[in-house]
Amino acid sequence: MVEARGSGRGKVILLGEHAVVHGEPAIAAGLSHEVEVRVRPDPHGASSVSNGLRAALEAAAKAVGVRDADGIAIEISGNLPIAVGLGSSAALSVALVRALSASVERSLSLEEAARLANEVEKVFHGTPSGIDANTAARGGLLWFETGPPMRWENVEAGGALSIVIVLSGEEHDTGHTVGALRRRVGASPPVYRPVFSAIGELVRAARTAIEKSEWRLLGELMSMNHELLRACGVSTKALDRVVDEARARGALGAKLTGAGGGGAAIALAAPGEAAQLAQSLRDGGWEAFPA
Ligand code: PMV
Repeated sequence: MVEARGSGRGKVILLGEHAVVHGEPAIAAGLSHEVEVRVRPDPHGASSVSNGLRAALEAAAKAVGVRDADGIAIEISGNLPIAVGLGSSAALSVALVRALSASVERSLSLEEAARLANEVEKVFHGTPSGIDANTAARGGLLWFETGPPMRWENVEAGGALSIVIVLSGEEHDTGHTVGALRRRVGASPPVYRPVFSAIGELVRAARTAIEKSEWRLLGELMSMNHELLRACGVSTKALDRVVDEARARGALGAKLTGAGGGGAAIALAAPGEAAQLAQSLRDGGWEAFPA
């Protein structure tokens, strides 16, 4: 084993989170924010790894075929905010499998990196749809269906999307939020099924809007997606406030992104106006940055 590094990107889900777990499509975008992992052989490596990380390291070592996870020291760095719905656990999983496979001089295709990282993601939250791991490995703008068979396609945007990320100030726990919704769905499938299928229709309409640069329509679809997520019980008062404020400050639309229950929201600005919208939200006291 040699010293090596690997990285994975953060992501935002533009539309379709949660419904994607229940068979509907979703659209995600890779961020330039990433997590970087460095690994090196170290007989006392176990002491450099926190308890929370140990299970992920062991899962990644198993997935890649590295035998002695205890003999590895790891260092994590990067500029991706964690536990706010920007896919940090998937970015870390991708970075881990890439670093470990590079350390045994094995190269990974994008497919393999995404597939192995999705196995590691299960340590963080039980039943990931695969959307985070795929976007963390591939980047770009992706159409995703969990399947089976799992399917992804690049979405060709008609122009640059002006997205602003806004942090609600509350951390979130994806596994908890997805699990709680799964139990509510299990108790009343006929109530949730039409909501998820309506979200699926929003995602299909959004793909066409993105391809045709119909930003006003895309904003409207994003705001409707937020309302349906709110109906599913995964929003919070803070996220609802962010969405209202972003729209009041000129966003074409806004919604929570990722699992919800806290975390981040995204707002769609008019073309070229993301920096201005982010500044206006910061003036209002929110942590906001263009993506
Ligand atoms: O909160 P995040 O960034 O991990 O996003 C989770 C997305 C969900 O659709 C809620 C869950 C999943 O596995 O697709």
